[in-house]
Formats: sequence, structure tokens, C-alpha cells
Amino acid sequence: MEITEGSASESESSDTTAEKRRRSTRKFLYLGVGVALLLAIILVLVLLLNSPGASNAKCRGFRQCPDYPLPYAFGTWPKTYSYAGSFPEGFVWGVGTAAYQVEGAYNEDGRGASIWDTFTGANTLGMPGANCSYCCQSAPCTPNKNMVGKGATGNVATNSYHMFRTDIALMKSMGLKHYRFSISWPRIFPTGSATGEPNPEAVKWYDTFIDELLAAGMEPYVTLYHWDLPQALLSPPELGAWWARDKDGKPVGQILPNWKHYVDTCFRLFGDRVKVWVTFNEAWSCTKLASGSGKAPGIPPFMNPAVDPYIAGHNILNAHAAAVDIYRRKYQTSQKGRIGITNNQDWREPKTDSVEDVAAAERAVLFQLGWFSEPIFGAGDYPQEMKDIFAALGTALPEFSEAEKALLKGSADFFGLNHYGTGWFAATKEPGWDMTYGTSSEEGFVQGQSTWLYGAGWGLRKLLNWVKRRYNNPEIYVTESGWSVAAQTAEEAANDTQRVMYFANYTSEVLSAILEDGVDVRGYFAWSLLDNFEWEMGYPIRFGTTFVDYDLGLDPNAPLPNSQVPTPGFQLRRRKDSSCFLEQVWRSNVMTAPSGASCVKPLVFQGRYRDTTQPGCKRVLDVYKPPTSGSISGTRPGPGRTACNNVTDIPYGPAMVTISGSTVVCTDCRTQSSQGFWSAGSLGIEWDDGALWVKDL
Ligand SMILES: *[C@@H]1O[C@H](CO)[C@@H](O)[C@H](O)[C@H]1NC(C)=O
Ligand SMILES: *[C@@H]1O[C@H](CO)[C@@H](O)[C@H](O)[C@H]1NC(C)=O
Ligand SMILES: *[C@@H]1O[C@H](CO)[C@@H](O)[C@H](O)[C@H]1NC(C)=O
Ligand SMILES: *[C@@H]1O[C@H](CO)[C@@H](O)[C@H](O)[C@H]1NC(C)=O
Repeated sequence: MEITEGSASESESSDTTAEKRRRSTRKFLYLGVGVALLLAIILVLVLLLNSPGASNAKCRGFRQCPDYPLPYAFGTWPKTYSYAGSFPEGFVWGVGTAAYQVEGAYNEDGRGASIWDTFTGANTLGMPGANCSYCCQSAPCTPNKNMVGKGATGNVATNSYHMFRTDIALMKSMGLKHYRFSISWPRIFPTGSATGEPNPEAVKWYDTFIDELLAAGMEPYVTLYHWDLPQALLSPPELGAWWARDKDGKPVGQILPNWKHYVDTCFRLFGDRVKVWVTFNEAWSCTKLASGSGKAPGIPPFMNPAVDPYIAGHNILNAHAAAVDIYRRKYQTSQKGRIGITNNQDWREPKTDSVEDVAAAERAVLFQLGWFSEPIFGAGDYPQEMKDIFAALGTALPEFSEAEKALLKGSADFFGLNHYGTGWFAATKEPGWDMTYGTSSEEGFVQGQSTWLYGAGWGLRKLLNWVKRRYNNPEIYVTESGWSVAAQTAEEAANDTQRVMYFANYTSEVLSAILEDGVDVRGYFAWSLLDNFEWEMGYPIRFGTTFVDYDLGLDPNAPLPNSQVPTPGFQLRRRKDSSCFLEQVWRSNVMTAPSGASCVKPLVFQGRYRDTTQPGCKRVLDVYKPPTSGSISGTRPGPGRTACNNVTDIPYGPAMVTISGSTVVCTDCRTQSSQGFWSAGSLGIEWDDGALWVKDL
């Protein structure tokens, strides 16, 4: 029995074991199914979250919700700035302009029509390239409907094509060492030709300008494309320029041969002296804002802001890469220059610290700055977040080929950044005009003259940190930064306290970004050297650190019988306080407090001078009361002499001068009026004929 019991018990026990095994097998099975189910659920969730624009409404477009952008945590934005500390040695200070905004002389020396001539309604009849499908057929021509300041054109602008020596004297008097300007493509190739020689008169002009700039101690920073496309290249439907696409709607590089020939020619002709090249200025502005938001060309059939800017942007990115490739292969080794691109971004601060708003603000920066930076400074392609959202919206971004990606990736020696202002950004349910599912607002920020311009110095610091984080700390040049202030007269304009504060706040935050956050900022270019043609707004909006009296009058080539547009008469340049504040900073390379920064007063001109171009000759400048006029008298060398000797000298003057702040104008010193600018560096007057008069103390 025992045995039976034993066996029974054994059998029982073996039964139990089998049962146990079965049970545990079942348990494992259940567990396995459970785990598999769980994994499947997780997988589905992950897929769902990752799928573009899908259920992760919290931070749409992101695989991982972005962090709140530092260095300032929500609500800890600074209310004041310290205005102290030194910039790194070799920090590059400059000012900038762009060809169409300042040159004028729009139909001289063989210049071809530009899309901005057409947009503004300038009289382009008979100009090279002015026979496009939508070009003007008889004068007066018609401005584009998105031109706000109707009647304004770049026909004369600040007349810098003729007054470049005045501009150079002005910059010399500021102690400036770097000047950013752009080359006008339709001057160099009036019809945007893809072969052959450039327009010799244009080449001569830029040669002279660059030579004289260098002789005056200034280094040129040259932009190749600042929006003034040769009109000859844009005549839809056949010629689509940046907007060209094939029948399937895919971007095609129709314009590439023309562009490559232009940039190659510029490198070849000017690259011995130009050591910093910027391919494109603000591709975002000249694409996204060119489909009905105020920038040229703004024409059918390219008016769909959800599609057309992205085609143009794609072609522009490929053109950028092609230009850099040409420069690197053919010129960089011998010319030893550097090349990059300038993109623009205003800072977008999350409206609240919610995940949704933080993500929306991040999208705003990615969909503008990231759009044109990621392919170059990232992996050679558009930001994934942007691709996902566009795909979900059914307007997929164009695709780069592997070869294009390879050419794009790393195609810049520095990161050029244009930055003006800051606003809040909050999440929305609708994609909106910019597809960001977000919207901006500005309450609490100080406003400039421009409707879109609100400022906060800390915004620039945050943006600089953003670039550092996203693109692995590239060398950054702030290639534009500025503030518009309205003014009717030179007197009123000169007192530009708000702009002084802007530059103080912004440069102070640049310094903090460098010293405290380790951002590699190498330079800061104030926008602009001069008041100038502010695109669709025309001339009332003033961004200059120097006031321009446009000598308003009638321009027979303007679209309307408008007697309030710039003329090539006498245009006064008068420095504003902001230019003198910046001068203090860049002469010392030390941040200084903005309070009381101002330019010298007219009485500074009173006294005796040595003219460095006419040794030994006397120069006496008498300032009258009120100090708005005066006279110059003295001696000049007698016949056949180059210096004075007190014996054969003949009288110099007396000549009447007018004085406006730190500008002196001599109306009858030579056949044309000439301007001189007080120079704190040389304690004298920089004249626009190149003469320097040094005070004889
Ligand atoms: C500059 O900062 C001061 C505070 O230090 C502020 O009052 C002013 O509004 C700011 N101006 C601009 C234009 O940023
Ligand atoms: C404009 O004129 C030139 C020269 O006559 C010609 O080659 C070109 O095809 C014309 N362009 C358009 C868009 O008609
Ligand atoms: C300059 O403008 C500011 C306001 O922006 C004003 O407070 C100040 O009095 C002005 N100064 C002069 C000298 O006109
Ligand atoms: C001319 O005379 C002044 C004094 O009246 C003197 O300082 C200057 O050196 C003289 N110039 C020459 C070239 O002799």
C-alpha cells in the first residue's frame, strides 16, 4: 500500500507536476500574449505619436516635445541690461546696405531691369530685360498692388551709385572697418545672361568702389543676391526663375546656369579683394513674403503661399550650394576668402510655458530659420518636424536628391543671421499662413516704427542660443540688426534715443551670449548705414544710423506724378546719435552705457586745420551763430605747386558752409557741393573727395 500509496502519491504527484507544468505553460502563454499586446499597444502609440500631425496634439510635429528655450526661464526675462564688459578681440563691427535700397542710377551704365523695378512701377521701357510677360508696356507704369508706398521706387534712392565717396567718407569718420553691401546682378548681367562677358561699366563701378573702400581701411562683406533678380529671368509661364517647376510641380533649376555664371564672374573679378561672400540674403523674405505679402515679384501664378515659396526656396538652396561649390573648387584656395549665407529670424518666445506653446514657438523658428539652415548646417535636408507637418497637410516639401544633399551639407563657412525683433508665439488649431499651427502677438514689447517690429534684447540672446544648440555652435555673424524710427527732419532724426537703446540692449545681449553662454558670435552689423528704400514701404520708414535728406521732388520715371520721392539733387547725410553710440562701442570694443550718447555739436568745427592733401596751406572754419552755417577761408598752393609756401599762395575761399550736427556742407568749395564729416578718431573732417583736414590745436 505504501508502495501503491507511494506510487499513487507518486502518480498523483506526477499528475500534479504535469498539471503545474501545464498551468505554468499557460501562465507563460498568457504572460507572453499580454506582453506582446502591451508591446503592440506601445508600438501603436509610438507610431501614432510619431505620425505627422497626428494625435500628439500637445507638441505637434515633434517626436519629443522640445524643452523651454533657455537661457531665460519663463517669466525671468531681464528688464534692464548691464551695458558692461569687453567684446572678444577681433570682434567684427559693421553696418550694411543693399544695392536696390541705396544705389539708385537704376537705368544708367547699361543696368538691366530688376524685378524690383517692375514691382515698384518704375519706368522700365527700353531697359534690358524689360520685355517680360507682365512687364510695363507704356509709361507711367503701374506699381504692384502689394506695394504699400506707391510711387516710391529705387530709381534714385540714396543716390549711392554717384555718392559712394560721400558714403565712404562718412564710414571713415565713424571709424568703421567693415561694410556689408550687395552687388546688383542686373548691373553685372543686364539680362541675367548665362554666358559671355559682364557689363564693363558695372564691373568698373564695383572695382572702383571696392578699391576705394579698401583704401579707406574698410573690409567689404559682399552679398550676391539681395532680392534684385534680373527681370529678364522671370517671365512666366516660360521663365520661372526661382519659382520654376516641372509639369509635376517639382522645382527645377532653370535659373542655375545664369546664377552660376553670375557668381563665378563675381568671384573671378572681385574675389582678389572681397574676402567674405554671402550668397543669399533672407531667402525666407524673398520667397515666403513674395507670394502676396509685400515682396517682389508677387505675381501670378506664384501667389500660393503654401506651395510657391517652398519651390523657390528649394531652388535657392540648390543655387546657394552651387555657388559655394564653385567658390570652393575654383577660388577659395587662391583667394583665401570665406563664404556663407544669411538667413533671418525674429525671436518667438512661448506665450506660456505650456508644452503646446513651447512647441509652437519652436516650430516658428524651425519653419523659418530652420527651413533654410537645416539643409546647410544640419543633415543636408529640411527639418524633420517641418517635413512631417507639411506631409500631413498634403503639401509635401520638395525633396533633395542624395547628390544635392551632399552639396548642401556643410556649405557655409559661417552662419549669417539677420535679426530685428521678438514676439510671443502660441499654439493654434489651424496651420495658418506659415503652417506652424501657431500665432504671434506682441503685448508688452516696445515697438519700432515698422508695424512688425517689436523689440527685446534678450530675444536675440535666446535666438543665438537656439542656433548654438541646434547647429552645434557655428561661427555666427549677426549680419543685420536694427530699429526703425520715424523722422521728418535731420534735427528730429538725429535724436534717435530709441535706436540708441535698441543697439545698447541688443549688443549687450550679444556680449552675454558670448561670455556667459559660450555662443560663438564673431560680428555684429547694424542695419543700416543710411536711411534707404524700405522695400514695399518706400521711404517713410527709416532704419538708418545716418539720416538721409532725400531732396524730395519729382522723378519723371516714378509711376505716379509724385513730387515726394528722392531726387539726385543734393542729398544730405547726417549722423544720428545711434551711429555715435555704436562708434563708441566699436572703437573701444567695450560695451558702454547708452545714456547721453550723442554726436558732436556744430561748434566742434570751429578752428584751424591742416589739409593733409595740401601741406602747409591754411584752413580756417568759422562757425556762425546760430551754429547752422559758417565759412571756410585759407590758402592754397600757387600755380604749378602742390604745397603752400607763404609766398606764392593764393586765397582759398572764403566759401560758405552749412552745418548739420556733425556734417559740414560746403556749397561752393568745388563745382559740386561736398560734404565733410567730423571724425572723433582723427579729430578732423573727412571730406568726400578723400581729403582729411586735421584740427591744428
Ligand atoms: C532697452 O532696454 C531698456 C531697459 O534697460 C528698456 O527700457 C528699453 O525699452 C529697451 N529698448 C529697446 C528698443 O529694446
Ligand atoms: C526679350 O527680348 C529678347 C531680345 O529681343 C529676347 O531674346 C527674349 O526672348 C525676350 N523675352 C521675352 C520674355 O519676350
Ligand atoms: C530726444 O528725444 C527724446 C524722446 O525720444 C526726448 O525725451 C528728448 O528730450 C529729446 N532730446 C532732444 C535734445 O531733443
Ligand atoms: C607759413 O607761416 C606759418 C606761420 O605764419 C608757419 O607756421 C608755416 O610753417 C609757414 N609755412 C611755410 C611752408 O613756410
